[in-house]
Amino acid sequence: MPEGRDIDAIDASTGPRHVAIIMDGNGRWAKARGRPRLFGHHAGARRVREIVSSCPDLGVKYLTIFAFSTENWRRTQTEVAGLMSLFRRYIFKEMQEFVKENVRVRFIGDRPRLDDKLRGLMDEAEAMTRHCTGTNLTIALNYGGRDEVTRATQRLALDVAEGRLLPGDVNEETLPKYLDTCVLPDPDLVIRTSGEARISNFLLWQSAYAEYEFIDTLWPDFTADIFTELLKGYGARDRRFGAVTA
Ligand code: IPE
Ligand code: IPE
Ligand code: MG
Repeated sequence: MPEGRDIDAIDASTGPRHVAIIMDGNGRWAKARGRPRLFGHHAGARRVREIVSSCPDLGVKYLTIFAFSTENWRRTQTEVAGLMSLFRRYIFKEMQEFVKENVRVRFIGDRPRLDDKLRGLMDEAEAMTRHCTGTNLTIALNYGGRDEVTRATQRLALDVAEGRLLPGDVNEETLPKYLDTCVLPDPDLVIRTSGEARISNFLLWQSAYAEYEFIDTLWPDFTADIFTELLKGYGARDRRFGAVTA
């Protein structure tokens, strides 16, 4: 952790337990340097480790990052293939590091559309870090909120059709058990970099009461210091969840 960061100002008991990040702006970052988009994606991937490593000191127990959306297949074949290759290399390279840092890795999203090699590495990373008790890092890969709710509904419908669940027992407690995020708490804070103020199909159900921070910084320029500042701002917010507070 860089010296001089004012982590004292963050109270881990009131800070966000679960932070989700829409890591956006890699393409524009590369363009500003006259480089291909993939150059930006590589720079973006390198930013992840510092943010993950800063979580324990900041009291962030769950970090969920949006790496590839179900809509990102609409990009050029070159960019999609480059991203898939980056994900394979990234997981392979970082696995040991995650174990060393006691980071438990999970993936959310629709896996069948991903190639066998990548899926194998994802399974391996999850298995290798299963015993880790530090930060819970969830990587959203081929993830879309609508797709997730649709897949969840299919499994739920099957349970109803086969008599394992009664229609009357479908409620706000049972439905999330079918989501990819079933073992995670809801995010308290969602950050999006790059200046876009939209959620692009990220954690639709789970973020119903999340706080949002939309910041102009492009993802490859995002640092642990910026992260720390955003968490400080979170502590000052009054989350009412529909009720009235004094
Ligand atoms: C985010 O950066 C990474 C992915 C969506 C894979 P972008 O690639 O969307 O970067 P911009 O928005 O074009 O700058
Ligand atoms: C959202 O970013 C997805 C990820 C960060 C992985 P996009 O760049 O794909 O979102 P839009 O297209 O600007 O909404
Ligand atoms: Mg983008």
